[in-house]
Amino acid sequence: MTTLGTPLSASATKVMLLGSGELGKEVLIALQRLGVETIAVDRYDNAPGQQVAHHARTITMSDPAQLKALIEAERPHLVVPEIEAIATPMLEELEAAGVVRVIPTARAARLTMDREGIRRLAGETLGLPTSPYQFCDSLAELQAAIDAGIGYPCIVKPVMSSSGKGQSKIDGPADVQKAWDYAMAGGRVSHGRVIVEGFIDFDYEITQLTVRSVGADGQIVTSFCDPIGHVQVSGDYVESWQPHPMHPAALEKSRQIAKAVTDNLGGQGLFGVELFVKGEQVWFSEVSPRPHDTGLVTLCTQHQSEFELHARAILGLPVDTSLRNPGASAVIYGGVEAQGIVFDGVDEALAIPGTDLRLFGKPESFVKRRMGVALARGTDTDQARATAKLAASKVKPRVA
Ligand SMILES: Nc1ncnc2c1ncn2[C@@H]1O[C@H](COP(=O)(O)OP(=O)(O)O)[C@@H](O)[C@H]1O
Ligand SMILES: [Mg+2]
Repeated sequence: MTTLGTPLSASATKVMLLGSGELGKEVLIALQRLGVETIAVDRYDNAPGQQVAHHARTITMSDPAQLKALIEAERPHLVVPEIEAIATPMLEELEAAGVVRVIPTARAARLTMDREGIRRLAGETLGLPTSPYQFCDSLAELQAAIDAGIGYPCIVKPVMSSSGKGQSKIDGPADVQKAWDYAMAGGRVSHGRVIVEGFIDFDYEITQLTVRSVGADGQIVTSFCDPIGHVQVSGDYVESWQPHPMHPAALEKSRQIAKAVTDNLGGQGLFGVELFVKGEQVWFSEVSPRPHDTGLVTLCTQHQSEFELHARAILGLPVDTSLRNPGASAVIYGGVEAQGIVFDGVDEALAIPGTDLRLFGKPESFVKRRMGVALARGTDTDQARATAKLAASKVKPRVA
């Protein structure tokens, strides 16, 4: 039996989000609706999730001492990582000491905090199909890995980065130095390690949202959402839709891979498993042990969005992963570098039938910063994609 308390009272069920961007904001809203007391943590003030939580805290989450002090002071029942750059060994320590429960588990947070832990788990421990890969610490090692078998074309990524930062494709020997320099400039923590992966010439890529929740018999059950198709530009998501049609054999393989990875990571919550598909062939790419950016589309397609699914699963509540209608999402970028920007054309976007909008409320805009997303439901995903892109194009961020 799950019992929830009253926020801001002695009985409160308290949840702390580590990272409070647009994805965390939606998880926080879902938790608020269930009367959970929420603590939104980020590295800067007024982050999107901090604007909708009971409490806002600003710390350097990669600093183990700051993280420990905050968790010990707040004593949340659950700690929910929303980003990768967290002092995860400290989370493991606190979880082992029984101070807190980490979602889905502290080990999962550690294994997915960089590309190496999760890739070695998937490719080597679990034997799942992945692109060929090598980890390299210098330009010479990178060149050697390519020559020894990765070949051309290939992709280089800093081991610690997201949203395509520092990532580039190498088509031939002339590109190697450039890709190395770009990775060194774009990595989150400059410790100079990269992964080089053979390029997979996939037909399409999907996100398989996978939920581990408590079933009627008290055991963990795994449920799957309909596949989400998406388009990435320079490693960053610009458009997604659901459902994405798949060959039944490819769908079955996708779910086998998703089950194997999430079984191993364990715990409760929603995972975003990224897969490449060519015909009936499926490759594991990576996994987020939390809601996925391409899954923003579920805000307009599912009875319970990925954020509601995550909130329910972590609290031990039942989930419903069923699709309500086809739909699509299209990203709205800042386009300008300024603080406190304004958005023209919101009315024009929402005048288009079947659309909805999320403006994240980020205090500062960058040209390529994701500031909002347009959502559209439709009779099919082609129509929904066109509508979402149209709605996104109507919203025009500008300096105030
Ligand atoms: N080995 C690969 N072959 C082909 N495309 C790739 C490969 N690795 C990454 N990509 C493309 O780049 C995108 C971002 O890569 P990913 O590893 O998911 O980085 P991030 O962690 O920044 O999301 C993928 O969604 C895919 O479109
Ligand atoms: Mg990715």
